[in-house]
Amino acid sequence: MRGLFITLEGTEGAGKSSMIPVVKRVLEESGRQVVCVREPGGTPIAEKIREILKTPADEKLNDKAELLLMYAARAQLVETVIRPTLAKGVDVISDRHDLSTIAYQGGGRKIPLSLIDKARQVALGDFHPDLTILMDIDPYVGMQRAKGRGALDRFEQEQMAFFERVRNTYLDCAKNDASIVVVNAALDLKTVTYQVESVVKGVLAHAHAVA
Ligand code: TMP
Repeated sequence: MRGLFITLEGTEGAGKSSMIPVVKRVLEESGRQVVCVREPGGTPIAEKIREILKTPADEKLNDKAELLLMYAARAQLVETVIRPTLAKGVDVISDRHDLSTIAYQGGGRKIPLSLIDKARQVALGDFHPDLTILMDIDPYVGMQRAKGRGALDRFEQEQMAFFERVRNTYLDCAKNDASIVVVNAALDLKTVTYQVESVVKGVLAHAHAVA
């Protein structure tokens, strides 16, 4: 049986990273093996691409180049790690995946979705997650949290309007895709953890029912 592919999404400071161990624990408690990755990154080559994407530089990174670098990193990770791992029956949790590109390059940078889809087809074909947990938070609140983590990266230096567009695009996508579950990330940690646990247990119950 193929493993489950679960992704976490959200704007800066939404708390994705603290929910990854929660998702992992729920999966492992039901006897499953789990591999965790992040995007952009997750392989030595993809991590080099991450450096280019995240590091502020004098030369402005062109929006189309940014889009293609995201997909270059994703293709490398999917082909060398994610697909082979799922094929072995092991679950994969990814800190961000393709929905980030729709939200950030589509919503944030305003690249037409028809163009994004062409790049997506090259990199991924029809590969997509079984479950996406969208950690939703007011970007202003999230950014206050992110600022507490130290120097801001190339994305974190964007204006608030950019993150508002990213958030709205995420929420629009969730309305039209049942595999995306929105979690209110502004609530206290205990409540958010409970919500995330419930979502994962629901997907596990479904996976076991169809197996
Ligand atoms: P993070 O891993 O710390 O969240 O940083 C990744 C940054 O890259 C974050 O600002 C979102 C951005 N990003 C995109 O713009 N498009 C993408 O497809 C992905 C995966 C990330």
